[in-house]
This record gives sequence, structure tokens and C-alpha cells, in this order.
Amino acid sequence: MLASKLSSEILLKLEAILGSTYVFTDDETRNHYGHDETEDYVFPPSVVVKPANAQEISEIMKLANEYKIPVTPIGGRTGLSGGALSLQQGIGLSTERLNKILNIDEFNLQVIVEPAVITQVLREAVAEKNLFYPPDPSSQGSCWIGGNVAENAGGARAVKYGVTKDYVLNLEVVLPNGEIIWTGANTLKNTTGYNLTQLMVGSEGTLGIITKIVMKLLPKVNHNVLMLVPFYKANQACEAVSAIFRAGIVPSALEFMERDAIDWTLKFIPNLNVQVKDEVQAHLLIEVDGNYPEILFAEAEKIMTVVEQFEIDEVLFADSEEQKNALWKMRRSVAEAVKANSIYKEEDTVVPRYELPKLLAGIKEIGTKYGFKSVCYGHAGDGNLHVNIIKGEMTDENWNTEVTKGIREIFELTVSLKGTLSGEHGIGFVQKNYMNIAFSKTHLELMERIKYVFDPNIILNPGKIFPDNF
Ligand code: LAC
Ligand code: ZN
Repeated sequence: MLASKLSSEILLKLEAILGSTYVFTDDETRNHYGHDETEDYVFPPSVVVKPANAQEISEIMKLANEYKIPVTPIGGRTGLSGGALSLQQGIGLSTERLNKILNIDEFNLQVIVEPAVITQVLREAVAEKNLFYPPDPSSQGSCWIGGNVAENAGGARAVKYGVTKDYVLNLEVVLPNGEIIWTGANTLKNTTGYNLTQLMVGSEGTLGIITKIVMKLLPKVNHNVLMLVPFYKANQACEAVSAIFRAGIVPSALEFMERDAIDWTLKFIPNLNVQVKDEVQAHLLIEVDGNYPEILFAEAEKIMTVVEQFEIDEVLFADSEEQKNALWKMRRSVAEAVKANSIYKEEDTVVPRYELPKLLAGIKEIGTKYGFKSVCYGHAGDGNLHVNIIKGEMTDENWNTEVTKGIREIFELTVSLKGTLSGEHGIGFVQKNYMNIAFSKTHLELMERIKYVFDPNIILNPGKIFPDNF
């Protein structure tokens, strides 16, 4: 049994490691670190610690391992699956003091960064040196790169440039027993043994605590064309997605937004100056990028010939940086706008992109069956649809029973379409009891055995990923 309340003896030991300035037991701090962006959940740790470096984290883990105290790594707390919540109390370990970009290597196109650097800060710092770090989660202005690695975050540019995992070359990690390792090498290729680096990526803080990240970078890309295409029918917007690729274009972003997603966002951020006609049901926000404007214009024209085969309204080409920023701000603010509008649950479905129309139609049918409304938007080019289920006027009872059944059916649908439960938000604790839809007992036991190898006492981020029963 894990100790959830910490004795004064443990607190003194923590203070000996960290100094009393960085050990917090007051309610305000515990509550602050007890929530992320996942619905309205709050799970405060018994104590919050703010170590200065990997060495201190190692000492904390040795102590926790000896006394079997749960430890929850805490990053920017922008997660949407509850990965940073201290479900079993114990130690909430904030990595916030590990917040430096250690080296931008312009010769190898690499960066070494600590976990608490804000993703946008990293992107801007490398851009100053004419380098490009593509992953751009919507929360890039507040999420941290360590959390991006832990969750294998995606974002709008993933459709062309890949997700966080595609940039992680090597990691310094503190293991649950306190040992500190580097998982691989700072090379673009590596076939040397099992790939511990990529096992760590997306493991949601359950296998180790990331303290340094070596990432590859690309040369900066200088031009882009951005267009907003209004569709009269949402299913046709989904059909257009795979048609664009089949026409030979790989956009640098291909985002879908249902009507409500845009309406709510325009209400939430009133000065965006985007007009939407009554008949429009959905939009695609499409970007192509590269270094040669004439190629981009040709690609945009080709995209026009594809989307014109569907029932669309007039396409808006963003003609200034200001307009581009407004369109991206609108897209990135959808999650916050929905949250401000109603109690909701967020699912992060993903299917092969040609199946998107079936996924959207199925979600709406399931909503009708169980009596809920959903607002869908997301990274359509990746087949990744964020499904926000809206509580609205629904009774608490239906919210807790019917919606759970409906979500299960949505996930069954995604899996039947050869997709899965989460594309980029992770499983955390809110989706863990749906894991048996995507995985058999054999799969789950294999994952559980991996967990035991790293963390035999199950002290690191307990209560996440694995279903309560399987
Ligand atoms: C987005 C976040 C919610 O795509 O993943 O806006
Ligand atoms: Zn997203």
C-alpha cells in the first residue's frame, strides 16, 4: 500500500535534499499543482517539491522508492488527459526550475533543452538562429517541452513535419530508483539496442522523469500560404481532406473546425474579424509552406481545384501576417472557447484520414442515440479529431451514465476504423478505462511488465494509462 500522507520524517528528508524553500505543504500551492487543463479535476499532492536539477530529482526518487511514496511529475499543467494530477497524493514534483535552453547547436541542427522551457520560447529561440522546431501544440504559448515529450504532443504542423517523437534524439532521464541515464545518442540514426528514447516519449511520466532533451531541428522555412475554406456540408469538408493528399499535396497544416467551434471561438475572442455565413457548416484551414512562393501559389491553386469539387463558399486567402495570426488564434482558441461555454469532456480520436467522414457521421449518430451534442475540430490531415462532448442542459445522471456509454461507442468506432483512442493528448487517467477497447489483455500485460521493469514499486505517476481492471 502506498503512503499517501507524508510523515514529518519524510518532509524533513525532502527539506534536507532541496532546502526548505523548495518544499511546499500549504493548501494554496498543493491545489495549484493539483490541476491541469483536464475538465475541472483537482488532485493535490501531499507536498510539492521544486528540485533544481537531475541530481536532486535522483535523491527524491531514491527516498520515494525506499518509502514507497507516489511521485507525480508536474510540467506546465496544460494537459488534457490528467497526466499531471497527483491521484494518490504523495509528492508532486514540479520540474519548473529546469527551464533553460542549454545549447543550440547550429552545426548539427540540434538543441539541448531542459523540460520546463515553454514550447513557443524554444521555437522562437531556434528561429532566431534560422532554425525550425516544427511541433506546435495549440497550447504552445504555455505548455512545456518536457510535457510535450512525455505526452508525445502533436499540433497543426504534425501533418507535414511529424509529432514531438520525430524530433527527440536522446533524453536524460531519472529512473524511479534514482539512477540517471541517457537513453540513446545524439544521432539522427541509431540501431543500437532497444529504443529506450522512444519508449520514454509518450510514456506520460510513468517510466522516468525527463531532465534533458536533445532534439533535432530543421532549417527555417520562410514562406507560407494560408486559406480558410468554408463548406456547406461538414461531411464534405472531411472528404476533401484525403482528396488534397491524393492530388499530390502535403499541406503544412490541414485543420477542420465545425460551425460551433468557430462560432463559440468568435464569441470568446470578439475582435478576430472573421465572417461566417449562416449556411456554412464547417471550415478547413489549410496552409502550405516552403521557400519558393511560386511553388506555394501553384500548390494553393491545386488545392482550390480539389476543394471546388465540393459545395463551398468563397475561400479566404490570408493576405497579411495579421490576418494569418488572427486565423491561427481562432483555431488555437477553440479548446478554451468550448471550456468557457459549457462543462465538457474532450476525446482525442484518431483514424486513418480517409475514414474521417465515417468517424464524424458516427460521432453524430452516437450523440443522437445517447442525447448529447458534440463540437468537433482538429488536425484533419492526421485523421485526428478532437470531440468535445457538451454537457449543456443534460442532467448530472445522464452526464455520468449515458455519456460514458456514448464515449465507449465512439472509441469502438475509431478502433473499428483502424484508429485508436488518442492521437496526441495521451491516456492519463480520464481515458484509461477505455484502454481495453484498443488493447487485449496480452497487450496490457506486456505494457504492465514494462512498467514493472522500470518501476517495480509503482511509485511513478501511479493511476495513469492502465485500466482499473483488465
Ligand atoms: C488543439 C488541442 C486541444 O488542437 O489539441 O487545439
Ligand atoms: Zn490538437
